[in-house]
Amino acid sequence: MKTKQKALLFGAGAALAAAITFGSVVWGGVVTVAGTDPHYAPVQWMLETTMRSSVRHHAADVEVPTGIDLQDPELAERAFGHYSVACTPCHGAPGVDAAPWLVLNPPAEPLVETADQWNDAELYWIVKHGIKMTGMPALGPTHGEDDLWAIAAFVRQLPDMSADEYAAMAQRHAGHGHDHGSMAVPAAGEEVVEDDAPRDVIGACDTPSESPSETAIEPPAVAPSTEAPVRPRRGARRRPAPSRPTLAAPEPTDAAAPPVAEPAPAHAHRHHHGAAHH
Ligand code: HEC
Repeated sequence: MKTKQKALLFGAGAALAAAITFGSVVWGGVVTVAGTDPHYAPVQWMLETTMRSSVRHHAADVEVPTGIDLQDPELAERAFGHYSVACTPCHGAPGVDAAPWLVLNPPAEPLVETADQWNDAELYWIVKHGIKMTGMPALGPTHGEDDLWAIAAFVRQLPDMSADEYAAMAQRHAGHGHDHGSMAVPAAGEEVVEDDAPRDVIGACDTPSESPSETAIEPPAVAPSTEAPVRPRRGARRRPAPSRPTLAAPEPTDAAAPPVAEPAPAHAHRHHHGAAHH
């Protein structure tokens, strides 16, 4: 065989191999997306380095607005409610562990330890835009500029914030609702203009700030059942909507009866994460 023919054959073979690999990954599902499956070290390094370079590159022309000082404790405290609700479950806070069930890949590091790796603009950029494919949410689409800078200030000050200081803040803001009054969604290209009216930006959705995740995820209200509270729900979710007006008609409470098409409170069970559990 001539060298030219050999090269041609080799090229075709390589193209076929690439196509097969592409097909088995994209449609064949051979690569796992399981978060519990760690990346190979070089892949991990590449993803992490890419993330850091990307944040640095994109935050390079973010300027801290005049009058904003991320070291200002008052500015940071205005974000207490936001931080305790939106960040603590994944990243923890001084004296507060992240929720143990939020196992993520890549992991959400304790910001108390990692915040120093970022400058002010980068912290703001991360909070505003989030990080793709990681679980790190973007607050920009739903929060005003003032809130975003306040949250960045909170993160900036985390490494120097003691558990006592955090607890004292929680105390000061206990019972305040987690007001999202400034969650105006700006039209494309529109700047959010914030007024200076003092508002209760603080608190944790009326829940203790240490464990907002416990109660923040309330199931939607379900039509109250006239049944005895404890009833086996087996089969209920798979069944079609009741074809007869059973809503008010009390069913026999015999638990051994075959499952009937009752309006099952499919999600009415509480999210039990009592202290005893963990
Ligand atoms: C659902 C979990 C989750 C929530 C909630 C969350 N984050 Fe993250 N965050 C992550 C993950 C995961 C990463 C890691 C991304 C990576 O390594 O590529 C991350 C990364 C970061 C980073 C950069 C990496 C580091 O370790 O320094 C900052 C800063 C950050 N988050 C701040 C916040 C702030 C502020 C909030 C609240 C507004 C928040 N995050 C809410 C999951 C979360």
